[in-house]
Amino acid sequence: MRTTRRAVRWRPRPLASAVFGLCLLTGCAGDSPSALNPGGTGATRIAGLWWLLFWISMAVFVEVMALLVWALVFRRGDVRVRHGQPLRFVTIAGAAIPFVILVAVYGAGLRDLAALGAAPDRDAPTVEVTGHTWWWEVRYPGASGATANEIHIPVGERVRVRLRTDDVLHSFWVPQLMPKTDLIAGETRETWLQAERAGSYRGQCAEYCGTQHAHMAFLVVAQPRAEFDAWLARLNAPARQPQTDAERRGEQAFVQGTCAACHSIRGTGAQGTVGPDLSNVGSRWSIGAGAVPNDAGHLGGWIANSQTVKPGNAMPPQPVEAARLPDLIAYLRSLE
Ligand code: CUA
Repeated sequence: MRTTRRAVRWRPRPLASAVFGLCLLTGCAGDSPSALNPGGTGATRIAGLWWLLFWISMAVFVEVMALLVWALVFRRGDVRVRHGQPLRFVTIAGAAIPFVILVAVYGAGLRDLAALGAAPDRDAPTVEVTGHTWWWEVRYPGASGATANEIHIPVGERVRVRLRTDDVLHSFWVPQLMPKTDLIAGETRETWLQAERAGSYRGQCAEYCGTQHAHMAFLVVAQPRAEFDAWLARLNAPARQPQTDAERRGEQAFVQGTCAACHSIRGTGAQGTVGPDLSNVGSRWSIGAGAVPNDAGHLGGWIANSQTVKPGNAMPPQPVEAARLPDLIAYLRSLE
C-alpha cells in the first residue's frame, strides 16, 4: 500500500499569535488591578490558590500529552497488553493520583475559605458601605459626614467592611485586596480589607445591576495611620469655606438652587440625602463612580446634563444659568 505524506508547511500565524499573546500577558504586571497582583492579605491567598491550581493543571496537561504521544508514536500497532498491566496503570494514574490531588486542593481551598471568612478583631476600624444604583455611599461609624466611591483605610490594618444595598443586588470586589462579597437586599453582610502597601486599589461592582453596572467602580485608598486619621477628622468637620467671590457665588447657587434638594455639604444649608454627600467632592478620583475623570470640564458637563455622561443615573438635567455654571464648578472643585 502506498502512503502519501503531506508536506508540513511553515505556518507563521499561530506562532505570531502566541508571541503577541505573551506580549499582552506582560501587561498583567505593574499596577494592574488584577487579582494576580495582590496588594493585601486576602488577595494573596486567592493568588496562591490560583497558582497552585495552575501548576497542577499544567502538570496534568503535560502528563496527558506525554501519554498521548507515547500511545500514538511508540505503541502504534502494538495491541498486545500483558494481563493485569492496564488495570494497575488505570488504578494508579486514573484514580489514586487524581484522588490525592483533589483532596489536597480541596483542603487548601477550605483552609483559605476559613481564613477569608474569619471576622476581624472586635475593635478593628469599621467602614459602612451602601450600594446604590450606581454608586457607593461610604460612612465611618462616629463620623458625621459621608463620602462616595472612595474608601480610605489605614495601611497594614484589618478593616471591617459592613455592606448593605439600598436597592438591587450588587457585589463588592477589590481584586487586589479581597474576593467578592454580594450585597443582598435586607441583609447586612461583612467582609474585611487589609492592604499591605500604601496606594490606590480599584474596586468594582461585580454583579450586573442595570445599565450603568460598568460605571459602579470605586477606589480603596490605603494610607499611613496618621494620614488616615487626618482624613477621617476632615470627614467630621464642616466642609471647606469658600475663599473667592466665584466660590461664594457658587455656594449660594448650590444651596439655593435645585442641587441642595438631593445633595448635602456639611456646614451649609444643603442637606439632601438622595445623592452623594459632596463635602469633599473636589478631592475625589472620579465623577459618577468611575464614569469620567474629576476635572472642571467633566464636572461642568455632569452638572448641566449628567444623562449624556451616565445615562439612566438618578440626576436629572439641571436648569443652571450659564453665568452660574463656572461659579458652581469653582465652588465644588474647592471642596477637598
Ligand atoms: Cu452594582 Cu453592578
